[in-house]
Amino acid sequence: MDQFKNLMLSLNQALEQAQVDPQLVSVVDSITNTCKNIAERLRGGALSGLYGSAEQENIQGEVQKKLDVISNDLLKQSLLANRSVAGIASEEEENVIAGNAEGRYLVTFDPLDGSSNIDVNVTVGTIFSILALPNSDPASTVTNDTFLQAGHKQIAAGYVLYGPSVILAITTGQGVSMYNLGADGVFYQTEDQIKVPEHTQEFAINMSNQRFWQAPMQRYINDVLLGEEGPLGKRFNMRWIASMVAEVHRILTRGGVFMYPYDNRDPSKAGKLRLMYEGNPMSFLIEQAGGASSNTQKPIMDVEPHYIHQRVPVILGSKEEVERVNTYHQSTSSD
Ligand code: AHG
Ligand code: MN
Ligand code: MN
Repeated sequence: MDQFKNLMLSLNQALEQAQVDPQLVSVVDSITNTCKNIAERLRGGALSGLYGSAEQENIQGEVQKKLDVISNDLLKQSLLANRSVAGIASEEEENVIAGNAEGRYLVTFDPLDGSSNIDVNVTVGTIFSILALPNSDPASTVTNDTFLQAGHKQIAAGYVLYGPSVILAITTGQGVSMYNLGADGVFYQTEDQIKVPEHTQEFAINMSNQRFWQAPMQRYINDVLLGEEGPLGKRFNMRWIASMVAEVHRILTRGGVFMYPYDNRDPSKAGKLRLMYEGNPMSFLIEQAGGASSNTQKPIMDVEPHYIHQRVPVILGSKEEVERVNTYHQSTSSD
């Protein structure tokens, strides 16, 4: 392996080559270093004593896993210690937390995505999004409102996947690259300028919610299931990992369409997934890789946030399929 190592570009070298602001590099560094720590704990599995629930609920009323709490605390600690960070918002925290007075960056994160998969040793991940502190706002006045910026304003976004290998996918608005965590604790670039295939025959949705979806989504999935005999004229394969981060990684790797649509189980919620911690960062990655993302009415990154924990219906992946889902919704907008 050693002969390859010299040819490999580390994350820091790649960001430097791309002339990314050193302050932003330091924020990314804080996140990825913490993720190495989280990866270490996950590797220990039951031996780390971290399986099971933390016997408390987060602000969204969801039972937290011990590792949800620990990952959140680790990220919180390292980001707040970083002078470039003006504030953080986490899926696991009720309110945003102001950071350092000289910081110019805001970070939102889902410390552990797919946490129902921890105890069964299936891939989970950390998702992050980096926004700029608006010029008009001094860091000392950072509040929930400071974070309410549409996704197209993101400066960077990415995830660290804890699977058979630890992989970072990141964009700073110049395409998407991927890195593998080496045995020496360095993230080395393995892919650059990733492209999501435009067409796909693979979809991901939790089919058990079918009866709760709106009519256009029901019709779309019915047509998908008809395969080559239906109006779409092709046979589809289905995958559902229940870790969005793993589904997005698969889509960045080989294409596909991921859907967590609105459903009427709880009509007060616009969807299950969260705009600021899941919808926006994943949409940024997918769009930077030539794919598309939508809430069925418009690109997710055009959705104006009004609430830090806002939910959003998510359709993302291969362009042709996302546009097809949009079309089903437009032609029946009265549904
Ligand atoms: P989290 O673990 O951060 O709460 O997110 C889980 C999300 C997402 O990763 C996944 O796609 C979805 O919830 C799975 O939901 P179901 O269990 O309803 O399928
Ligand atoms: Mn999540
Ligand atoms: Mn989570």
